[in-house]
Amino acid sequence: MNTVKTVRELRAAVAQARAEGKQIGFVPTMGNLHAGHTALVEKAAQRADFVVASIFVNPLQFGPNEDLDSYPRTLAADQEKLFEAGCNLLFTPDVEEMYPHGMAGQTRVSVAGVSEGLCGASRPGHFEGVATVVTKLFNLVQPDLAIFGQKDFQQLAVIRTLVHDLNMPIQIIGEPTVRADDGLALSSRNGYLNAEQRAAAPALYRSLVQMADAIRRGERDFPALIAAAQAQQLAAGFRPDYLEVRESNSLRPATKDDRQLVILVAAFIGSTRLIDNLAFDLGSPL
Ligand code: PAF
Repeated sequence: MNTVKTVRELRAAVAQARAEGKQIGFVPTMGNLHAGHTALVEKAAQRADFVVASIFVNPLQFGPNEDLDSYPRTLAADQEKLFEAGCNLLFTPDVEEMYPHGMAGQTRVSVAGVSEGLCGASRPGHFEGVATVVTKLFNLVQPDLAIFGQKDFQQLAVIRTLVHDLNMPIQIIGEPTVRADDGLALSSRNGYLNAEQRAAAPALYRSLVQMADAIRRGERDFPALIAAAQAQQLAAGFRPDYLEVRESNSLRPATKDDRQLVILVAAFIGSTRLIDNLAFDLGSPL
């Protein structure tokens, strides 16, 4: 696996793979990789001949009071994991390489609709930062396919929409969330949790499973389900941010008649904000 830091080196390495007739698969990340990330790289290695990953902690997608400075940077361990998962080329630009003229005047990509609400409301500017850096990375790598985790459900919807709306010839593949044995979704931010918080954290996913079970049994009073689940989250030590039931394809608020649903949650435990979701299909009405 080759690691490159500059746009020039990246373009040269990808051009060589293309000249050899290879299909390019791409996995963008912010590093501090866990089994959720390596599953994306393994999938890319199954689906493409040449796998490119990037590690870039993108300042444009962090708010002023968020964890940009403390976000864990673990390059050597990440390189090892990527190599083992089948990555061929790693791109690790610094901020100046990605934003050579600074960020203030940077052209931005804004995705209407699916960026609004949920994390878009809690983290103003976040999805514009994500859409901008992903567009830049897609233009640099020009992959045939790119793989993202379903854990960031809204992010995946934003990226699918941007690729569709901007006519990018890239297949976007969403991969299931990888969970710890107790159900907690793997996330780089789990590393911020102390032992007590880590023990309490699986309650977040449990509350989603219970909501989904109730909906499968026919319950459709979403506000009542949300209130009960948030009470459970509070009791487990969380400070709820949002909890919503949405139609899973459009991400619009769910109606009682929708069959394809996703429950999305964000909540703080201590100062750590965790997100999770549970998508499910009720099948055709009888
Ligand atoms: O999901 C992430 O790690 C980031 O949001 C991404 C897609 C790499 C863009 O910075």
